[in-house]
Amino acid sequence: MASAIVLGSLSATPGAAQKIEGLAPTPPMGWNSWNHYGCNIDETLIRETADALVSSGLRDAGYVNVNLDDCWHGERDGNGNIQPDPERFPSGMKALGDYLHARGLKFGIYSDAGTQTCAGRPGSQGYEFQDARRYAEWGVDYIKYDWCNTGKGDEQRNPREAYRTMSRAIAASGRPMVLSVCEWGDNEPWLWAGQYGHLWRTTGDIINCWDCTVGHGSWSSSGILPILDQQDKLRSFGGPDKWNDPDMMEVGNLPTLAENRSHFAMWAMLAAPLIIGSDVPGMTPEITAILANKRLIAINQDPLGRGAMKWIATPDWEIWAKPLADGEWAIALLNRGDEAQSISIDWAAVELKDDTFGHRAEFAQRSYTLTDAWSGKAAGDTQTALTRKVGPRDTAVFRLRPI
Ligand code: GLA
Repeated sequence: MASAIVLGSLSATPGAAQKIEGLAPTPPMGWNSWNHYGCNIDETLIRETADALVSSGLRDAGYVNVNLDDCWHGERDGNGNIQPDPERFPSGMKALGDYLHARGLKFGIYSDAGTQTCAGRPGSQGYEFQDARRYAEWGVDYIKYDWCNTGKGDEQRNPREAYRTMSRAIAASGRPMVLSVCEWGDNEPWLWAGQYGHLWRTTGDIINCWDCTVGHGSWSSSGILPILDQQDKLRSFGGPDKWNDPDMMEVGNLPTLAENRSHFAMWAMLAAPLIIGSDVPGMTPEITAILANKRLIAINQDPLGRGAMKWIATPDWEIWAKPLADGEWAIALLNRGDEAQSISIDWAAVELKDDTFGHRAEFAQRSYTLTDAWSGKAAGDTQTALTRKVGPRDTAVFRLRPI
C-alpha cells in the first residue's frame, strides 16, 4: 500500500522484528468498547459511538481510533478465516471499517495470542498471518493483542515470540496497523515490546474506582491510584512509537468530577495512550469538556514524548513534572486524599531535574510563566511562590513557559 511507505518503514535487518515504525509518534487517542460495554457490542453501537465522537468534537480533539474489544468474533469458516458474529455485525467488518474511515476515524480490532480470547472467542494462535491479512482487507488500523489462554507454566507460549509473530504478520499483510501489546506487564514488556508493538500494557486491568483492588480469582483489577503508583518506575522506557500503557481510561465512569479530572490529568501527564472507555453517545457535557480540554491534550501529545516523573511526594498529595518540547514543563498537583490540600511551590527553593532524560528547569536563572491548563488562565510566574488549594481527589495542572 502506498500509505505504508508514507506512514511507516519496515526494519531492513534480516531476522529482526518487522514493526512498522512511525505509526504512533505521540500516544494513540481514541475509544475502546471494553470498559463500559464488555461483551455487549454490535455494529449499531459502534456506529452511534463513531457519530457521537464526531458530533461532540472529540474526534477533532484527537480521539480518532474506534477500537472494538473482545466479543466481536464469530466462528472461523471452513478455510479458517475469522468472521464477525453474524448477529451482532450483520453488515460485516469491511462495511464497518468503511463507515469509520468515511468519518475521518480509524478502525481498531482485538485479538489474542492464545487459542481463545479472554472471553472465549477464537484466538489468533496459529492463524496470525491469516488473521492479519483478513484485518487488512477490512481496513483495520490498530490491533490490541491480548494474552489469555496462552498456556500455563512451562507450556506457556513465549511472549516475545508471540508478539513478534503478530508484528511480522502485520508487516506481511501490507497494511500499517498499530500493535497494542496487552500481556498486563507480566513479562516486563517495557524491556522488549517496543521492537514489535507501539504500546504495551504495564498492569492488569483498570476498574472504575479511585483507590481499590478487586480480586477475580486468578487475577485482579485496580483503580486509578494503584495503577498510577506503578508507572513512575517505568518512565525511562516510554517514548515516541513505544508507549507505556496504564490501560484505557475510566473517565466518565468514576463517581465524582474531581476523580474524573484527576484520572484524565494524570494519564495526560504520563504520556499514556488516551483511550476513552465510557459511553460516548450518553456523555455529559462536563465529561466531554474534561476529555476535550485542548491544553491537557497538548501536554499528553507533546512531541518530546516524555512521561511525567513524580517530583515531590507526601502521603496526601504529589507533584508530578513532565518535560515538554522547547524547555517547557507541565506540573500537576494531585490531591490523593479526601481533605482539601493547600499545595505550595517556592520556585526559588526547589530544584527540578530529570536525570533520566537530562532535562532541567533553571528557576534561579530564568523565570517561567504559568498557565492553568484546566481554565487556560494566566497563573503568574515563577518569580512568586505558587499556592493552590486543591479539592479532595482533584488535580491542578500548570504549563510553564520560559520567558
Ligand atoms: C483482558 C484485557 C482487557 C480486555 C479483556 C477482554 O482482561 O486486559 O483490557 O481486553 O481482556 O476480554
